[in-house]
Amino acid sequence: MPVLACAILVVIGVFISADEQPPAQPLDPAAWGSDHVGKPVPDYTTGGECLFCHRKEIGSQWASNRHHLTIRPLSQEAGGVRTASASLAGEPMFVLGNKKKLRFLRRSGTYGHLDLHTQAYDPATRKLSGATRAAWQSHTFGRNCAGCHTTGVDPETHAFSSLSIDCFSCHGDVDLKHTTDPSRALLSAKGKTPARVVVSICAQCHIRSGTSRSSGLPYAGNFVPGDNVLRDLKVSFTDKAMAELNPVDRHILENVRDVVRLGEDSMNCLTCHRVHESSADRHQHLPKSSAICANCHDSGNGRWTTKQFKTRSTTCQY
Ligand code: HEC
Ligand code: HEC
Ligand code: HEC
Ligand code: HEC
Ligand code: HEC
Ligand code: HEC
Repeated sequence: MPVLACAILVVIGVFISADEQPPAQPLDPAAWGSDHVGKPVPDYTTGGECLFCHRKEIGSQWASNRHHLTIRPLSQEAGGVRTASASLAGEPMFVLGNKKKLRFLRRSGTYGHLDLHTQAYDPATRKLSGATRAAWQSHTFGRNCAGCHTTGVDPETHAFSSLSIDCFSCHGDVDLKHTTDPSRALLSAKGKTPARVVVSICAQCHIRSGTSRSSGLPYAGNFVPGDNVLRDLKVSFTDKAMAELNPVDRHILENVRDVVRLGEDSMNCLTCHRVHESSADRHQHLPKSSAICANCHDSGNGRWTTKQFKTRSTTCQY
């Protein structure tokens, strides 16, 4: 019965080929876009110049934004911090950090470099803690911290262009023609910045488990917003790598993975976060069925609760 045999074979063939359909191949996260590895840091417009025109909507909130304040003068800190720092020899000038840990910095001999003190201040105990030996380190900050806590870092010298995080870090080298065509500015409400470009911008600092292919440092070399950060930053998106992270770092890595590996662009950081308002309020109105929610919420027994969690990071030494 050759005809029937053929028909059976065809049917089997259909099933086999349906079965053998490879699972949707994850995308190569490095396959799109550009990078600025090996190129000079752009001569970008600084925050002071941007705020000349944007003072009204942005300026007042910017003054208290954590990005702007990640490194700030010690003289503006509360008394407890200043008292504790008085016992450190060698005149600390700046602090880095927030509620979990503060670190002390001072200008070093060369422009764009800071020395980092080994001892940390713990705001909970109001005491200095950490390394037993108190010392100023001259290369640690540039090599291990600068890329995410300052702006415009030269990948060769590790010198930064501006202290703390400036507009350039997220909006990039904004073309001044944007004043008549706002869609030219990255992250403009009118521009519809693609999801993978948005997550790349945030991930340049908020992925704290990556390594630069070009430098071996924990931050990407000479990232300019608009670039694809994963061309230079090597990051593991495996379940094992996810499981090792705390819920905050994990929801970030999951979101980046969904966008750049799985090609899902319905959700990015800005679906939930408003950077200038320092708010995540809008996340509460999203469907509770998204997998990302489970990082921070339990929904067992039909009850919706928020988990208790601690954020820590070996990259940031806290
Ligand atoms: C890959 C980018 C990256 C690098 C490299 C990095 N940081 Fe951070 N750091 C961050 C981000 C992002 C946060 C905010 C995390 C959050 O709020 O969840 C942070 C937060 C901190 C905090 C504040 C913790 C708190 O909430 O009180 C301190 C202190 C800190 N970093 C110190 C350092 C030091 C010191 C180094 C270098 C040894 C360093 N970081 C390197 C990205 C980085
Ligand atoms: C940490 C990233 C980040 C930094 C740094 C940053 N911005 Fe933004 N900015 C955003 C994002 C994201 C948006 C989109 C709206 C939102 O999420 O708040 C935005 C929106 C804007 C808008 C559009 C107005 C609006 O409210 O939608 C202006 C203007 C702006 N930023 C100017 C600035 C200026 C000026 C600076 C520096 C003083 C700056 N931004 C620094 C991320 C940043
Ligand atoms: C000469 C004045 C001027 C300077 C300098 C300037 N801007 Fe603008 N910017 C404008 C005007 C005008 C608009 C369009 C009107 C609007 O939407 O606010 C605009 C729009 C924007 C938008 C889009 C706003 C929206 O509604 O979506 C962003 C983002 C932005 N600027 C960021 C920046 C950043 C970052 C800098 C510095 C690198 C900067 N601007 C420098 C005048 C300026
Ligand atoms: C240049 C590095 C850098 C970039 C780019 C960056 N962040 Fe941050 N972000 C930080 C650091 C560092 C802190 C912690 C500052 C501190 O408290 O000392 C922080 C804090 C935050 C916080 C907690 C504080 C707050 O204001 O609510 C949120 C949320 C956040 N970032 C979201 C984003 C998003 C979303 C983007 C992308 C649009 C982004 N960040 C881009 C470095 C960065
Ligand atoms: C589904 C919504 C959602 C998405 C998508 C999301 N986040 Fe979050 N994120 C949250 C919520 C909610 C919190 C907790 C806010 C709080 O504690 O008030 C949070 C916390 C954070 C924090 C710690 C804030 C702090 O105060 O220490 C950072 C940093 C952060 N997110 C960055 C990002 C970045 C970067 C992305 C994109 C890669 C992202 N998030 C994507 C909802 C989201
Ligand atoms: C990174 C942690 C984080 C993620 C991810 C997250 N949440 Fe939340 N969520 C919080 C925190 C913290 C609160 C407590 C209130 C606040 O600060 O916003 C909260 C509060 C809420 C609330 C209001 C208070 C309550 O318990 O009823 C709702 C609703 C909510 N989240 C829904 C969601 C949904 C839906 C998702 C997924 C799309 C999600 N959350 C993802 C951290 C998170």
